[in-house]
Amino acid sequence: MSALPRPQVSFRRMRAPDVPPVADLERSLYEFPWSLGNFRDSLHAGYDCWVACHGDQVVGYAILMVAVDEGHLLNIAIASAWHNRGLGGSFLDHMLRVAREAGCQIVYLEVRPSNQAARHLYRKAGFQQIAIRPGYYPARGGREDALFLGLTL
Ligand SMILES: CC(C)(COP(=O)(O)OP(=O)(O)OC[C@H]1O[C@@H](n2cnc3c(N)ncnc32)[C@H](O)[C@@H]1OP(=O)(O)O)[C@@H](O)C(=O)NCCC(=O)NCCS
Repeated sequence: MSALPRPQVSFRRMRAPDVPPVADLERSLYEFPWSLGNFRDSLHAGYDCWVACHGDQVVGYAILMVAVDEGHLLNIAIASAWHNRGLGGSFLDHMLRVAREAGCQIVYLEVRPSNQAARHLYRKAGFQQIAIRPGYYPARGGREDALFLGLTL
């Protein structure tokens, strides 16, 4: 269980003005971040782009791409000051509901083997490993494999 109390957070669809703060958050969280353009493109492509808000403050974001009955969770993140308070888990649950309502029967995602917190979160939600994608991610001094996970809804 997360040690700190879970703060009041609501989820809403990402809008264009959210993109710069979301891209700032992304840069603070990842060594190899998505660009501002990647988020803009995701919005314009009609992906399910959501933010988690504490009042007016964006504290997380997630991007789900739906193709017919399959979802691909491309990104999910919570600002580091808010980690380990249950937000990642409840945001993931929310995105799985979004996927279900969009008609998805399965959701896929990639995760770095070194990303223990995310792997824990996905395992708890019931995701299972399907494959390894060799050299999928950029990494310092080379590439890192991705674990390819899936969850049947
Ligand atoms: C992954 C992420 C979204 C989780 O968000 P969060 O709000 O901290 O998630 P929660 O508080 O709901 O749950 C975190 C769980 O991971 C566990 N955890 C944290 N660090 C861990 C570690 N190093 N090893 C194993 N488990 C860990 C916590 O104990 C907690 O488990 P519990 O609920 O069973 O106690 C967050 O770490 C994040 O934004 N990371 C950077 C972006 C990222 O890597 N996204 C995933 C890309 S695939």
